[in-house]
Amino acid sequence: MSSLLDGYVVDVPYPTFVHRQMAPLWLSTITQLNGFITPEIKKPFRYLELGCGMGIHLHLMAAANPQGQFVGVDFNGEHLTVAHEGLRETKINNLEFIHSNFQNLLESNLEQFDFIVTHGVWSWITPEHQQSIVKIINKLLKPQGILYCSYISHPGATHFSSIQKLMIEMARNLKGDSSTKAVQGIHLSRKIASANQGLFEKIPSLENDLAKLAQEKPAYIAHDFLSEHWKPQHSADMIRLFGKHKLSYIGGAGILENIDSITLSPEIQKLVSSLPLNTLQETVKDIARNTMQRQDIYSKDRIRLNGSEQLKIYKQIKFGLLPNVSIATNLKDDSKLSKILDALPYFEQILKIIKNNDSNIFELKNLLVPILNYEQIRDLILVLMWAGYIHPIQEQNSDYENAMNKWMLSQGLDWKALAYYGTAVQI
Ligand SMILES: C[S@@+](CC[C@H](N)C(=O)[O-])C[C@H]1O[C@@H](n2cnc3c(N)ncnc32)[C@H](O)[C@@H]1O
Repeated sequence: MSSLLDGYVVDVPYPTFVHRQMAPLWLSTITQLNGFITPEIKKPFRYLELGCGMGIHLHLMAAANPQGQFVGVDFNGEHLTVAHEGLRETKINNLEFIHSNFQNLLESNLEQFDFIVTHGVWSWITPEHQQSIVKIINKLLKPQGILYCSYISHPGATHFSSIQKLMIEMARNLKGDSSTKAVQGIHLSRKIASANQGLFEKIPSLENDLAKLAQEKPAYIAHDFLSEHWKPQHSADMIRLFGKHKLSYIGGAGILENIDSITLSPEIQKLVSSLPLNTLQETVKDIARNTMQRQDIYSKDRIRLNGSEQLKIYKQIKFGLLPNVSIATNLKDDSKLSKILDALPYFEQILKIIKNNDSNIFELKNLLVPILNYEQIRDLILVLMWAGYIHPIQEQNSDYENAMNKWMLSQGLDWKALAYYGTAVQI
């Protein structure tokens, strides 16, 4: 078996990951709180993942969202064998997997989707497959549908270019599978790092980055570094490319990247707000944050919510405390929340209120003292979501939840579907 297909690693399976930031409820909440219309997810909706790996993320999402129909596409048959095993075990029937590459998927007669997501794929595939992804989105994403696309980005990933090249060149001349080659490539890179010359002298943090990478599973390192088309992107190019196809940038799905007050100095915030275009603004932010990976949300034919629609959203989305969350007795000890010291008294109040009752932004506005405006409360809520304390709720039951969680346990995977929150959590 060749180790690569269209330049992408196929001889070792990609380890399992779950991405809460790709959950339909998470994506729609961020989009609505940013002021834009999203698909209605309490009603039936359709969700497509391009490059779904073994499909564990999709299993958890399908189990937690019985009102949705989920489809995963991948060209690695071995990944999909595991995905199909999962379907047999859990009996989930709102999820299907398609064995195809992106080019061939264009020939299928799939119905349109409300969400198209792709994580860990774009920066590793051929320009032709990237073009196919764009065509799939053009053909299959509904108006006001959401696109989530993650990619490695400049300038955070720029320094890795030469390391990646070295690893690819090494791999061409080594025997063994891609995991073995990846481990050897990292080993050689770390040997060079220890001499502290040239690149490593100029970028001292790189040695530590490599040490951290070496702790990852070898198959993860192989998928991350041994694909021939590995290429970090500039956010401005991505925003412009998708913009040509009627997809407007909404924000980052990780939340933190939307909270400039935490991540940017006051000087940079002022500079960003003086710039007229989001391509420019995002480029400045990437430089200031040394962004390494982006998780961008786009909306097709984006429509802005008007004032009364926005107020309706503030009344509609309820937030609940995630199960198993322990609230630090002193929130100052929480490394995330303590980034905004001034807001700690508000975080305490909000958590206390939400612990007693799931609440929306409208209700919080009437309870918090001193009084805050809606936008200020929205920002605090987003920080608490990002920090893992609270989550929007969808108050749904799912017959699949139990079967899914039993299967996860039997597989030794420490994730659990939570239909009440439309997501999955690590336990
Ligand atoms: C890094 S993995 C990401 C898996 C999953 N999205 C995640 O984040 O956990 C990339 C996946 O994309 C698939 N892939 C890469 N190129 C593809 C192509 N041209 N067509 C279909 N699938 C592809 C790979 O087989 C692999 O499962």
